[in-house]
Amino acid sequence: MNDEELAGKHIVLGLSGGVACYKAAELCRQLQRAGATVQVVMTEAAAQFITPVTMQALSGRPVYGSQWDAREPNNMPHINLSRNADAVLIAPASADFIARLAQGRADELLSLLCLARPRERVPLLLAPAMNREMWAHPATQRNLAQVAQDGATVLGVGCGDQACGETGDGRMLEPHELVEELTAFLTPKLLVGRKVLITAGPTFEAIDPVRGITNHSSGKMGFAIARAARAAGAEVTLVAGPVHLPTPRGVRRIDVQSAQQMLDAVLQQVQSASVFIATAAVADWRPATQAAHKIKKDGSGEPPVLRFVENPDILATVAQLPQARSGALYCVGFAAESEDLLAQSSAKRLRKGVPLLVGNIGPATFGQDDNALLLVDANGHRELPRASKRVLAQQLVAEIAARLPHH
Ligand code: C5P
Repeated sequence: MNDEELAGKHIVLGLSGGVACYKAAELCRQLQRAGATVQVVMTEAAAQFITPVTMQALSGRPVYGSQWDAREPNNMPHINLSRNADAVLIAPASADFIARLAQGRADELLSLLCLARPRERVPLLLAPAMNREMWAHPATQRNLAQVAQDGATVLGVGCGDQACGETGDGRMLEPHELVEELTAFLTPKLLVGRKVLITAGPTFEAIDPVRGITNHSSGKMGFAIARAARAAGAEVTLVAGPVHLPTPRGVRRIDVQSAQQMLDAVLQQVQSASVFIATAAVADWRPATQAAHKIKKDGSGEPPVLRFVENPDILATVAQLPQARSGALYCVGFAAESEDLLAQSSAKRLRKGVPLLVGNIGPATFGQDDNALLLVDANGHRELPRASKRVLAQQLVAEIAARLPHH
């Protein structure tokens, strides 16, 4: 796979001893699915919780566990394994392992490797996992502060049920959260200091309390853009219609149903935004009236007749705001077209009054994990070829960042 978020990245995944080692198998898998190659290094204690055989089978590479490993011709796995890494991620990082790092210990391979890595080039990220009392202990907190001061990045921790039966802080973040955090960490911070407002998903226009009109938009593209914008350092607010997607980490989400509610939420949030990206598939019309009670068959055999009124155009409304017209708010629209993508997208860009319009072939792409985009602005057009929506979102964020006025 070379079209994923972590494509070309080589990650050293270090496991220290803890029950959360069972999640390291899934983490390894998810890192690979995101395009990374994974080199596993385990402490002796970690091997008590999950076998090197499992980790080797999943990572497709020999697992290292000892600094005396004679497989390396120069007998220096701590050097060889750390030189070509893009990051070292310790997950789980036990209280004991963090204490070793804080002291600069080097008497087993993993801490030796952390100490010997070229710090300027190879960042160290820790995903602590431990019992809540161990987490809260001043010694652990002291050690964490020390390793953070020495340049390590601490991911988490989560709060919740623990293997010991207690509940509290100290859970390792879930594998998908760690992949998201690592991806964000490695993403260039192109949108630092920018507030980005995004609409995503379909709208739901009620007919009566139990029925309504909606569409097949999954929200995946908008959510991917929210994730990518946050990874690029932006403060992101996502106004979402009814979708079944988890909120990207670090993103503020406002759930709405109808186009009118989406517009209200957008107008409330847009004052402080510097970028507005409209990916939502907003219903063009809504029923003119909404029945207070469920519409029943009346026995006449005559179906009810629905009358529609036009919904507000959220994008066009925002594009007319003074801050958009002055260039302080950069507006991006989307177009899903089944034919003549370039002509339709160019016409839509002018009609909506936005500097950038992103066309895609729709609705065939609704719900899919990949897509291809056509970017149309005043200077012409540019294609972003077929890739996962996450990768396209990263590319689109870079394209938008390049078009923003300096600040
Ligand atoms: O006119 P059309 O629906 O094709 O335009 C698509 C673009 O306009 C998308 O960016 C969509 O989010 C936005 N839009 C909107 N409010 C509407 C209709 C579309 O913001 N009522």
